[in-house]
Amino acid sequence: MWPAQAMSGSLVLFGPPGAGKGTQAGLIVDLTGKPQVSTGDMLRAAVKAESAMGMEAKEYMDAGLLVPDSVIIGLIEERLTEADASAGVLFDGFPRTIRQAESLEAIANVVAVISIEVPDSAIVERIVGRRMDPETGGIYHVNFNPAPPEIVSRLIQRPDDNEETVLARLAAYHEQTAPLAAWYGERDLLVSIDGDHSIDEVAAAVETVVRGLA
Ligand code: AP5
Repeated sequence: MWPAQAMSGSLVLFGPPGAGKGTQAGLIVDLTGKPQVSTGDMLRAAVKAESAMGMEAKEYMDAGLLVPDSVIIGLIEERLTEADASAGVLFDGFPRTIRQAESLEAIANVVAVISIEVPDSAIVERIVGRRMDPETGGIYHVNFNPAPPEIVSRLIQRPDDNEETVLARLAAYHEQTAPLAAWYGERDLLVSIDGDHSIDEVAAAVETVVRGLA
């Protein structure tokens, strides 16, 4: 077993919308064996299932606002009771507020927060050009990571991946989420990566960080 697979505790992937968290998560899952826990994916599944919680969350997501902490914390508490979470998980897009981080501190052992830093100027192009494969969950970009031609016809665009909503998501990030970087920095858990490079270059930096944690 490679050392990172014996690493106990959870990791957090942190960064603004479009930073590349989802794109890099698979690599960290492969390196550590920890399951990816994406609150965005969980919320989109609830929207698709048309549950009461999903319908409530959809209004916030479509407006580019954060879903209330109580909803998110409940989702995470339930997810962490599952067997595959016992040795820690990879949180993607959670926590996003100080209150979420404080709640997480009480129920999980976070050993590192990997922050992918990307300037606002790069975010809109990344988000507006993103395409998702509904069959595999694959994340593509019309210019930066084109999908193979045989699957292009089935790709979808997230409803919140438009210019207006991404500006609201960025505002929410700066106001409510960015302060968490200092919060985790004070706890000596923050590791920053320059995400303003190609996907492969960022992946190489992520791999170096994760191997360094083992
Ligand atoms: P969520 O799904 O978490 O969205 P997000 O954080 O806004 O992050 P994204 O999924 O948009 O970006 P990413 O960093 O994963 O980028 P990706 O790898 O796809 O949340 C959606 C909504 O749910 C929120 O707005 C909120 O309403 C709600 N929500 C979720 N969690 C919540 C929470 N904890 N609390 C409250 N509300 C919550 O990459 C983006 C694009 O860029 C892709 O096309 C990709 O191919 C491309 N790309 C990636 N890396 C690079 C690179 N290095 N160079 C060029 N292109 C790249």
